[in-house]
Amino acid sequence: MKVLLIGSGGREHALASALNRDPKLEELHVAPGNPGIAEIATIHEIDILNNEAIVELAKKLAVDLVVIGPEKPLVNGVADALAKAKIPCFGPSKAAAQLEGSKDFAKKVMSDAGVPTARSATCKTQAEIEKALDKFGAPYVVKHDGLAAGKGVVVTNDRQAAIEHALASEQVVIEEFLDGPEVSLFGISDGQTVIPMQPAQDFKRALDGDLGPNTGGMGAYSPLPWAPDEIMDETLEQVLNPTVAEMSARGTPFIGLLYAGLALTDHGTRVIEFNARFGDPETQVLLPRLKSPLAQLLLAAATRKLHEFGPLEWSDESAVTVVLAAPGYPAAPEIGEPITGIAPIANSFVFHAGTQLRDGVLHSAGGRVLTVTGIGSDLTEARDAAYRTISKITLPNSHYRRDIALNASVAEKGN
Ligand code: AMP
Ligand code: GLY
Repeated sequence: MKVLLIGSGGREHALASALNRDPKLEELHVAPGNPGIAEIATIHEIDILNNEAIVELAKKLAVDLVVIGPEKPLVNGVADALAKAKIPCFGPSKAAAQLEGSKDFAKKVMSDAGVPTARSATCKTQAEIEKALDKFGAPYVVKHDGLAAGKGVVVTNDRQAAIEHALASEQVVIEEFLDGPEVSLFGISDGQTVIPMQPAQDFKRALDGDLGPNTGGMGAYSPLPWAPDEIMDETLEQVLNPTVAEMSARGTPFIGLLYAGLALTDHGTRVIEFNARFGDPETQVLLPRLKSPLAQLLLAAATRKLHEFGPLEWSDESAVTVVLAAPGYPAAPEIGEPITGIAPIANSFVFHAGTQLRDGVLHSAGGRVLTVTGIGSDLTEARDAAYRTISKITLPNSHYRRDIALNASVAEKGN
């Protein structure tokens, strides 16, 4: 089987590695890819927001499946363009990708589907905004309605700051604060059948101790030794299945990866957000542990045959991933510096995110530069592998968190 993967980040490098392990995979093409991906796949230049160019490339390569990594091409309707050309695509239509593209839309779907989430109000005017803030109280949670690359959400005790953030967007969702640990749980959906993946946890703040600004994600680990055993079954039953059923009933079936960001509160599980694609960096800890053949899984979803696939198989090992970020990330990343010292020790992988080759020398090209994953028999061993490999990498003034999966690994050892 021949696969074309769209994207260029750490998530796509991890996807490419896992696709390559599928015994049925014959050719892997990635557009636009990055220097790390170029070592394991054929890469092609492309503008990922040019749907026609993606369809043309898929036709020229005669691929059996196109897998879309990032959200922007999905919200831009690439899956619809591929469907028109009768090319199987793993990734939802423009209409279904609104689950990520509009917070207000996601709230309406959850309400219609009976999916547990924070109570919320969608607001446009200052009067509506102030009324909603006072209704739900502090800490205030204000979300810009559209795609915002991780910058759309503010959680603050400062009422004035909440109002200012709200006024910066035409439409916002204001909601009650959810207290409890966050879990990312992904469902692979063919529009009808959903197969859940194991849960992961990501670290969204820039600095140790969950301090500093929100980022696209600074690290992740999986599995979660502290999470309830029923979390996959419960999330399937309460969140993933009803959402996918509601999208089908609306005539806009969701085919692709439904990412549920959950808060485990004292009152039960609540959805914080949906995304319409694999999470980054959760993918970098999930896929190295996945034993089921990924290309066949994603093709089964794209061709509506997931009911034939059966549950996923996972390795019993733990995985931890740590993001190496450019100086100044997330506010104002400085890029274009040389990277040296990439020499993964045993049981570790370096996934490229924002890198580029200049005269054959690797340089940084984005805010999140590399993601380093370690694997081990428990989280302590996995952390050790990841941190030993990342500590040898040199990128001037770069930074990474030292506490990814630290608390969970200590608790696991204590049990
Ligand atoms: P989102 O972009 O929706 O994932 O939000 C980014 C982050 O903001 C989440 O990972 C949470 O840490 C936080 N957040 C979003 N909504 C809420 C909420 N209702 N209560 C508490 N924290 C939230
Ligand atoms: N890890 C957060 C995201 O992918 O949106």
